[in-house]
Amino acid sequence: MIEQSLVLPCGHLLPNRIIKTAMTEGLANAHDHATASHLQLYRTWAQGGAAALVTGNIMIDRRYLERAGNVVVEDDTGLYALINWARAVHEGGSQLWAQISHPGRQCPRLVNAHPLAPSEVQLQLAGNFGKPRAATDSDIQDIIRRFANTAGILKDAGFDGVQIHAAHGYLLSQFLSPRTNQRNDQWGGSLINRASLLLSVVRAVRERVGASFPISVKLNSSDFVNGGFTLDECVQVVTWLNEAGVDLLEVSGGTYEQLAFFQHTPQDQVRDSTRHREAMFLEYAQSIKAVAAMPIMVTGGFRTKTGMDDALKAGHTDMIGVARPFCLDPSFPSRMMAGLVDTLPVPESRLVLGSGYWGPNSKSETMRGLNNFSQAGWYYSQIERMAAGDAPNPNLSPLSALLGHFWHDFLRVLRRRRR
Ligand SMILES: Cc1cc2nc3c(=O)[nH]c(=O)nc-3n(C[C@H](O)[C@H](O)[C@H](O)COP(=O)(O)O)c2cc1C
Repeated sequence: MIEQSLVLPCGHLLPNRIIKTAMTEGLANAHDHATASHLQLYRTWAQGGAAALVTGNIMIDRRYLERAGNVVVEDDTGLYALINWARAVHEGGSQLWAQISHPGRQCPRLVNAHPLAPSEVQLQLAGNFGKPRAATDSDIQDIIRRFANTAGILKDAGFDGVQIHAAHGYLLSQFLSPRTNQRNDQWGGSLINRASLLLSVVRAVRERVGASFPISVKLNSSDFVNGGFTLDECVQVVTWLNEAGVDLLEVSGGTYEQLAFFQHTPQDQVRDSTRHREAMFLEYAQSIKAVAAMPIMVTGGFRTKTGMDDALKAGHTDMIGVARPFCLDPSFPSRMMAGLVDTLPVPESRLVLGSGYWGPNSKSETMRGLNNFSQAGWYYSQIERMAAGDAPNPNLSPLSALLGHFWHDFLRVLRRRRR
């Protein structure tokens, strides 16, 4: 049941089973530091009753961002802002975990036209991403060192845990996938070689933060693209992560090429009557749970208390990860645990630019991409509203959200360049 606490292998207590999972905020200042907007946003979420809040992507290297407006932690500059961020969440009654990340080839051209990736396999998506340079051995050693350094600074700033982002087609996920990792050295080829970077990062972070500090890994159950990382490979990687000292494994799926983590199956299209199917990766999670020594958290699609409780009771997951509903109903966890709310809003069918050619199932790749951007932009806009102290606006138009999103990110790129 969602009200029950859970003790992680490192001894850390989570007071209930709901975690707000990572959502990139895009709120950093021109120096890539956290701001008063982060404090405002996370104060609101912290008062909502979730056991913990995972930050959006915090980048380990300011040259390579997932998006302008990411917080970067690579040294002590910006430390006070991090301390205040963690304090604001603690005062609100929750925990703050930092998702630490490197985008690899999924770094927008406007941020860096020459991203760093396992191999020179460019992401073809509306011309938004440059051709990557293949990381050298010394780049790889630097990446491992940076993950550990960033985790250590966040721990020192008072954060309660870190999550290593190895899902959604970012750098560590690119190394895992034979589609994007075409290396023939010790970091490519066999699965153990492709997983070596992730395993080295986990070990280096553990060495830096010590045995009692929670480390989570977010991993794809599958990339859902031809030639990508598969469920069987995921299961094998989890057995290696068992040895590496991971406290919580978040299970997701998809990459920018196939945004599986962003879909939602409407309840009337769920294949069988069991409501736990509302969560998208639950079927895959069962194979993962069978081998995982650490607790797992399935994220994606959970929208009812019944669905969450059923999944917990069946032993298919230990924690419930939820993201988008926090952008519309930031205080749902306490009310759900008190039995005052069962079902969360599902606005997805309205967040489209049109139907047919203009819709999310268009034959045009560009239109499909724009529809995805408009959905993301709609949630980004709700995050920006809450960060400014306003309530979410469920009636926001997807088109204005899309335009607002492009404008917001473009301004942040300019501000960074001018600093
Ligand atoms: C606006 C937005 C931003 C996101 N940013 C991140 C991110 O920074 N890191 C990450 O791992 N996942 C990110 N996600 C994915 C969510 O953590 C989650 O996996 C996904 O939304 C599915 O969960 P849900 O159905 O409860 O929304 C983001 C999702 C949204 C909607």
